[in-house]
Amino acid sequence: MRILFTGGSGKAGRHVVPYLLDRGHRVVNLDLVPLDDPRVDNLAADITDSGQVFNALTGYAGLDELEPGTGVLRFDAVVHFAAIPRILLRPDNETFRVNSIGTYNVIEAAVKLGIRKVVFASSETTYGICFADGERKPDYLPVDEAHPTLPEDSYAMSKVVNEATARSFQQRSGFDIYGLRINNVIEPHEYARDFPVYFENPERRRRNMFAYIDARDLGQIVDRCLATDGLGFEMFNAANDDHSVNLTTPELIARFYEGVPVTREMGEYESFYSNAKARRMLGFSQEHDWRQHIFDPRG
Ligand SMILES: NC(=O)c1ccc[n+]([C@@H]2O[C@H](COP(=O)([O-])OP(=O)(O)OC[C@H]3O[C@@H](n4cnc5c(N)ncnc54)[C@H](O)[C@@H]3O)[C@@H](O)[C@H]2O)c1
Repeated sequence: MRILFTGGSGKAGRHVVPYLLDRGHRVVNLDLVPLDDPRVDNLAADITDSGQVFNALTGYAGLDELEPGTGVLRFDAVVHFAAIPRILLRPDNETFRVNSIGTYNVIEAAVKLGIRKVVFASSETTYGICFADGERKPDYLPVDEAHPTLPEDSYAMSKVVNEATARSFQQRSGFDIYGLRINNVIEPHEYARDFPVYFENPERRRRNMFAYIDARDLGQIVDRCLATDGLGFEMFNAANDDHSVNLTTPELIARFYEGVPVTREMGEYESFYSNAKARRMLGFSQEHDWRQHIFDPRG
């Protein structure tokens, strides 16, 4: 597919874009800064400027596309990751503005230009736990896509708004617009550096519901979204199958989630952040659990 990818130079994009390139897609990376990969076409543009987004989506991907003399080709899909990725990087109102206006601009342009597949990054923070003031527990476990999204912070608010924006554009167009409630993204080099600290202090993972998503497995989920047509509007939790600490599910429940209803039997190491919908509807199958990268001192 010929794909316009926003935010491809960031933490997640620099793994997801190569994953898509490896599978034969052509990718134009719309970002404020370029991604250093010779296979990608970089376009410096700002998603908060609708004119720039419309231009990017109606342009050539690279100089080679001038050769056939057949004019500009149409994009087959848009993957939208560009954002201010959490609170406390920019003032709250600026985080909200960039993320909500930027997402409106990207999805509006895609839909009005007839691009029938949009995949966009939402966040685990929509469930309200990650950036809560004090400790907040899930309403129930495991947390699936039906769990209420009522956050307290500007970043997560922008993501809830983006989901509503996407749903409205899908309602009018009938196109496929899929959102990913991405859990904490882990890059390959972060396992050895960070996971021993998590094993020592599992409470450090409480705000992520002890979950994570390997950046390359996130690439697989995006690719599965591109390959899966006809779902209309859907939201998917994006996470790996297991916890990011070396405790069992019963141990974590006893220590952190006493009194929280558990709605079904869970596996010994099954994540509290359910990826069952992505596995069922997209055919996602994780390839990179942390035990492949780092030794579990408990054996
Ligand atoms: N990293 C995580 O753990 C995580 C978890 C949940 C959701 N997400 C979401 O996934 C997406 C990617 O996150 P990330 O961690 O790679 O973030 P990141 O900050 O590393 O990357 C975001 C990219 O967007 C670009 N960008 C920012 N503002 C822009 C603008 N106005 N115009 C064009 N480009 C702009 C940045 O230059 C950057 O390359 C974001 O939407 C984020 O909210 C990330």
